[in-house]
Amino acid sequence: MPSFDHFDFAARFYENIPPAPLSAVLSDLLDIYPGARILDAGGGTGRLAQVLAQSGARLTVADFSHGMLRIALRKGGLGPTRAAVERLPFSDASFDRVLMVDALHHVYDQGQAAHEMFRVLRPGGRLVIEEPDIDTFTVKLLALAEKLLFMRSHLLSGERMAALFAGLPAALSLRREGHTVWLLVEKN
Ligand SMILES: C[S@@+](CC[C@H](N)C(=O)[O-])C[C@H]1O[C@@H](n2cnc3c(N)ncnc32)[C@H](O)[C@@H]1O
Repeated sequence: MPSFDHFDFAARFYENIPPAPLSAVLSDLLDIYPGARILDAGGGTGRLAQVLAQSGARLTVADFSHGMLRIALRKGGLGPTRAAVERLPFSDASFDRVLMVDALHHVYDQGQAAHEMFRVLRPGGRLVIEEPDIDTFTVKLLALAEKLLFMRSHLLSGERMAALFAGLPAALSLRREGHTVWLLVEKN
């Protein structure tokens, strides 16, 4: 792990960004219901989790940044848990929904992260990953900017995200809109 974490540094600015809008696509793909156990993996300050919690779902925000989780803790009810997504401290099949928004390109081992998120999802549950779409020109520029800032960042195309789940018992589908791509994984 690096001694300087960009996200510990960035945490203080996150709350000045308007709450992450729960896009119609994400809402549709997640199909949340009251009481659902939801893991927000790489959930940061809980910007999105706090919106989802309003639906009566039970949220757990997992992230490895102390700075981000400190803010999530202040919000209450988001179950902030310090963990690397590659090694989640949860039992198999313990969540009805798992989401990861704007974080997959930052994790060290994307294959391991995908397998861990899949492991903690119950059969019949849904896992949704939202990422900037590297197949668009604007996102290619963003990726370059992150490299210049020495952020570890490795954006995958939608197809390469889907390939992380190859061979696992699931139905996979991709959605694209604007500069965003979503992968929906429905576990058998
Ligand atoms: C750009 S932020 C997005 C946060 C949140 N999903 C949102 O949309 O507001 C990416 C987050 O992923 C977290 N992260 C990156 N790699 C991680 C890993 N391997 N395990 C856990 N969290 C990680 C960072 O600490 C950061 O909070």
